[in-house]
Amino acid sequence: MITERIRGFELHDIRKLFEMADEDTINLGQGQPDFQPPMDVIDEMYRAMKEGNNRYGSHYGLTELRDEIAVQHPIDIDPDNVLITVGATQALRIALEGTVDIGDEVLYPDPGFVLFRPHIELARGTPVPYRVEQKDGFVPAVEELERLRTEKTKALILNSPSNPTGGVIPRKKIRAISRWAKENDILIISDEVYDRFVYDDEHVSSLRYCDDVVVVNSFSKSFSMTGWRLGYMITREDWIHDLANIHSYNIACPPEPVQHAALFALKNGEDFVDEMVSTFAERRKVMVDGLKDITGFHCITPKGAFYAFPSYEFDISSKQLALEILKEGVLVTPGAAFGDNGEDHLRLSYANSLENIETGLRTIEELTRRFPL
Ligand SMILES: Cc1ncc(COP(=O)(O)O)c(C=O)c1O
Repeated sequence: MITERIRGFELHDIRKLFEMADEDTINLGQGQPDFQPPMDVIDEMYRAMKEGNNRYGSHYGLTELRDEIAVQHPIDIDPDNVLITVGATQALRIALEGTVDIGDEVLYPDPGFVLFRPHIELARGTPVPYRVEQKDGFVPAVEELERLRTEKTKALILNSPSNPTGGVIPRKKIRAISRWAKENDILIISDEVYDRFVYDDEHVSSLRYCDDVVVVNSFSKSFSMTGWRLGYMITREDWIHDLANIHSYNIACPPEPVQHAALFALKNGEDFVDEMVSTFAERRKVMVDGLKDITGFHCITPKGAFYAFPSYEFDISSKQLALEILKEGVLVTPGAAFGDNGEDHLRLSYANSLENIETGLRTIEELTRRFPL
């Protein structure tokens, strides 16, 4: 009874590897911060529940939360531009569902986040991967986008800072890509869930330069509440209403107590975010310096998110290499899980303790020393 389209969907490689790991495995595969949300934010969710915020709410989301997102946003936006969602995952899903018609082509990064391609397919669009290269800091090139553009190109997915590469698109490039999109009537779907995790650069949104943009963002990473499932989108007011409609058929409304907690986090959680990001900055250095010291690996310094995406010279597929490393007790993610162009890379997350990062790297070094170059 299941449709052909859905039967073709496979559990992605990251989840498969996770399932093979045991509790002693050093997990450098994590796509989430290894922090708990701030305790006062947890208390606030409890307070919201005790005070009766346990019913259906507006499908647009809590008014005060939409207000606060608009107030804090670096670009001048209105609460009517904001829609609260169940994580960035659902924001991405309805952004594509709401804008892509059957056969429309959607450009997405390769290597890129594992949900992009299936979400385009679920919306019945045609996924068109664009390459991002290590030599360019994993920043997309306008020439590559132009090479792939056809009259069917409807949308472009940007992800800065990027999962899996840690690449951050600089301001000048965001401006050039936005101009290109505008000239060609292409919608930008901008996944900015790592916007707080930028180290020696700035985060710039294409929303600054373009109107036809859907920004997808989340509380998951910023406040380390991935399991609470809360995100949001920012887009044109005249689109929000239609997107909110499909959204409401999807989820009825975002969860009320979590929205109260997220509002509290936005108003009071700045120190928590700063501390977490500076912890990641320290770990990033250890991770990158360590990888640079391993013969056969080449790593550029990622400017954002919490991943390093080194290439390697060994004659082995990334999946096989990740399996060999897992046998030694360390979980890393094969680059090929993020697209064909991710082959010959690994993704290592530094959302783990310095001690685990150091042990993990030592293990990889000892293993790969035996591999011929
Ligand atoms: C680039 C990117 N976008 C979106 C998401 C999904 O985030 P959420 O937990 O808000 O659904 C992730 C999670 O790993 C991600 O890495």
